[in-house]
Amino acid sequence: MSIRHFINLPDIGAETLKGILKQAHSLKAEKFNPPQILEGLSLAMVFDKRSTRTRISFEVAMKQLGGHTIVMSMGEMQIAGSETIEDTSKVLSRFVDAVMLRMSSHENMEELARWASIPIVNGMTNESHPCQIMADLLTIEEKLGNVEGKKIAWFGDYNNVCKTFEQAAPLFGFDLAISTPPDLQPAKPGPRTTYHEDAQAAAKGADVIVTDTWVSMGQEGKAIDKFMPYQVNSALMAQAKEHAIFMHCMPIHQNEEVTQDVLKTKASVIYDEAENRLHAQKAILAWCLEEAGVRVRKRG
Ligand code: CP
Ligand code: NVA
Repeated sequence: MSIRHFINLPDIGAETLKGILKQAHSLKAEKFNPPQILEGLSLAMVFDKRSTRTRISFEVAMKQLGGHTIVMSMGEMQIAGSETIEDTSKVLSRFVDAVMLRMSSHENMEELARWASIPIVNGMTNESHPCQIMADLLTIEEKLGNVEGKKIAWFGDYNNVCKTFEQAAPLFGFDLAISTPPDLQPAKPGPRTTYHEDAQAAAKGADVIVTDTWVSMGQEGKAIDKFMPYQVNSALMAQAKEHAIFMHCMPIHQNEEVTQDVLKTKASVIYDEAENRLHAQKAILAWCLEEAGVRVRKRG
């Protein structure tokens, strides 16, 4: 039986991902009466960076579905000393049913998954943030209907979150316009992705305007002046469709990547987006654990 890791969206495939998204919609509909499908299962959560949303939403998701969690910072584990990734992975596999990691090195997460006999969930690396994108797609579909054929416009840094939108575009069938300083332009934009040096041009006709911090964790001290033309402000929002929504994975740096006035408009859906981390992650966990899942209870 193959282990269902949730690390790279393209490895999971379009049909499976659409199924997980559909499940996220239905688990949200059941939010006040969550099915106990993960009863008795344990999730270890390991962080080498700060987190508010990822940590709390995974913890609550697991508990609402009947499971439980253990949270550790990587710095207090033996892997921060001399224990190998292989030993860490094999030992964790004996204790818990799945591991969610926020791990700077994407390669190290993939190595950990190679040694694991349980699902590994990517809670963000320097390269990607797939759980965030699933929550974002859930939010877009709630607000605007099926994401297929929509135009999503990204502004600012070409970072882990942006790169995961780029991976998701051909899988879910939306178009992505990326607008960043020219030195950050993707060497070869992925399918359904276009690059625009001019932010106003990228925003034209967009259904979704999205940005993220200009300084991701671990990049503290980086110069930000070059990002100013890519700030999301009311002039940029005015280029998008009338019904366009504004999204941000949070945490936000007000009046840097987005102005306060945009955050105060009806277009901003940031808190629904944050809540949707919970519902999307329930669906991700259910998918990961179902197959491993002699013990996963069938619904209904
Ligand atoms: N968006 C997100 O991943 O938030 P946290 O860093 O708070 O987990
Ligand atoms: N790009 C940001 C996302 C935080 C959720 C970071 O990596 O810090």
